[in-house]
Amino acid sequence: MCGIVGYVGPRPAAELLITGLRRLEYRGYDSAGIATLDDDCTLHRHRTVGEVDNLARTVAVGGAPGSTGIAHTRWATHGIPSDHNAHPHASSAGDVIVVQNGIVENYRELRAELQAFLDAENRSWQSDTDTEVIPELISRQLAAGRSFEDSLAYAVGRLRGANAIAAFHRRDPDRIYAARKGSAGGIVVGYGEGEMFIASDLPALLPHTTSVHHLEDGDIAAIDRDGVSVRRSGEPAFKPTPREVDLDPIAIARGPYRHFMLKEIHEQPRALSDTIRGRARLNPPNALPSDLNLSDATLREIERVLVIGMGTSLHAAMIGRWWIEQIAGIPADFDNASEFRFRAPLLGPSTLVVAVTQSGETIDTLGAMNHVRDRWGAPQVVITNVDGSEATRQADASIVMRCGPEVGVASTKTFVGSLAALYLLACRIGRAQGRLSQDDLTVHLEQLLTAPSLLERGVQRAERCSEIAQLFGSASNFLVLGRGIEYPLAMEAALKCKEISYVHAEGYAAGEMKHGPIALLDHQFPVIALAPRGPLFDKMTSAIQQVSARRAPVIAIGDEGDDELAELVDHFIGVPPAPPLLTPFSLTPVVQLLAYHIALARGLDIDQPRNLAKTVTVE
Ligand code: AGP
Repeated sequence: MCGIVGYVGPRPAAELLITGLRRLEYRGYDSAGIATLDDDCTLHRHRTVGEVDNLARTVAVGGAPGSTGIAHTRWATHGIPSDHNAHPHASSAGDVIVVQNGIVENYRELRAELQAFLDAENRSWQSDTDTEVIPELISRQLAAGRSFEDSLAYAVGRLRGANAIAAFHRRDPDRIYAARKGSAGGIVVGYGEGEMFIASDLPALLPHTTSVHHLEDGDIAAIDRDGVSVRRSGEPAFKPTPREVDLDPIAIARGPYRHFMLKEIHEQPRALSDTIRGRARLNPPNALPSDLNLSDATLREIERVLVIGMGTSLHAAMIGRWWIEQIAGIPADFDNASEFRFRAPLLGPSTLVVAVTQSGETIDTLGAMNHVRDRWGAPQVVITNVDGSEATRQADASIVMRCGPEVGVASTKTFVGSLAALYLLACRIGRAQGRLSQDDLTVHLEQLLTAPSLLERGVQRAERCSEIAQLFGSASNFLVLGRGIEYPLAMEAALKCKEISYVHAEGYAAGEMKHGPIALLDHQFPVIALAPRGPLFDKMTSAIQQVSARRAPVIAIGDEGDDELAELVDHFIGVPPAPPLLTPFSLTPVVQLLAYHIALARGLDIDQPRNLAKTVTVE
């Protein structure tokens, strides 16, 4: 979602800011903008719809001198994507420049309040955004004689909703400011030699520094070329101690792959091996032996597990529910975090809540976690790919996947990382509860250790997926059917098709198909059937027969060498046979590759699909 970068130092700011924006492109955006201030306090502001390249071209023509500046990629929430709605926004007096990530929920109320001032000065709003109230609030306080920091703190105090803000004062070319309220994606300060950076996320900082400080909820920061001073809820200002991060910039390069998504699909075997390394021990059998900060005594008390998440993470949660029931042997459920947080379900301290969020910053999931803590005090575990993310700070315990940075907006390797963590957690709970014997635990762990090779062989089916995509690339609809543990995967396959191929696709439980969706089927409506051999195979083949009887073309994904299935359907993709609980690992790469190749056949922008954001920090 929106990306923020800022710079103060001796170097020309514009090029650094634009490079920083490029490194945040993966978050998703629809327009971009930059504001720099030169030594004479002349403001240079440019805003363009579309890609950062457009902004770079505009800056090359118009110029943006100065060694202080802020820049932004916008993902529209209030007001269409347009030049005038793009950030940075300025106060009506032109003295305050602001970029923001988040939503000002009470912006109508604030606009109404500020309208009287604008009317009195015969000025008007310059955009349709909620953001514009922020520079206006700051500017009014400056006019009343308060310092910039006090004015920013006042403005932040007036905002409802989660927000991350960067700003500067038109008459102060030596300083930029940042503020964080709630969980709107965060702000990281980067320490250089005689220069300082800010950004929404680490990739924008890594070419310059690995020495960083994350702002916390409520922080107001003043940054000059020598460092940062932070004010937190009325306490005296302090200079934080930076910490070193060890993200490898090479890991976020695309390498020989045409798209990050393809690279990340291929990285899945390694991401899974890294995630389970040291966490699936066989002699003696042990799952998550050292890094789950919850005691066996706590896990023994648990009577129920609720797994929550959004999008792909919700699909992982659904599969996790299946494993917790089957492996741990205790009641489990899943819920969509954005719905759960506004329900009044009956939890209690004996329910373990497991939040799945690759970014650790999804506002719906964080909201649900807050809801759990405030209302029931139930223990919470987060499964995430980002150590130090907001979710890890809120949870009682974390399982951090080790997938490396995921740049493609469509989650792939973090999906399998989440699955691995859920599987291990199911094993650990089952053991702590005494419901899973040592021998059964050994079998489950041995099976999990085969998962990287299942993924590896699935990834090798790219060519076959490409052939199928050539045949069906122009279809307008897909139905994806699965049963049991493959049903959530059918939903994930459909989500991937929607996200990157912009094709309408529905994931359905195969048994549900005849209760309505079957009415849609005809010879132009391809159906993808997830049909590995397993306890529900016969029921899947019945559904396939029902589809074929309506002349809808069937693409089945089943066990390699399953000639009986191959003969039954129009097109067949074989995957390595897997134990019944492990089929999500054998099928996942193929459904991802199918969506990828359909998008490729349709000539779409795979790594930056329209309207989507990698980190969803607004409701
Ligand atoms: C997945 O491809 C999407 N990017 C989206 O559905 C995502 O899974 C969802 O927004 C949740 O994100 P999170 O895992 O960071 O919480």
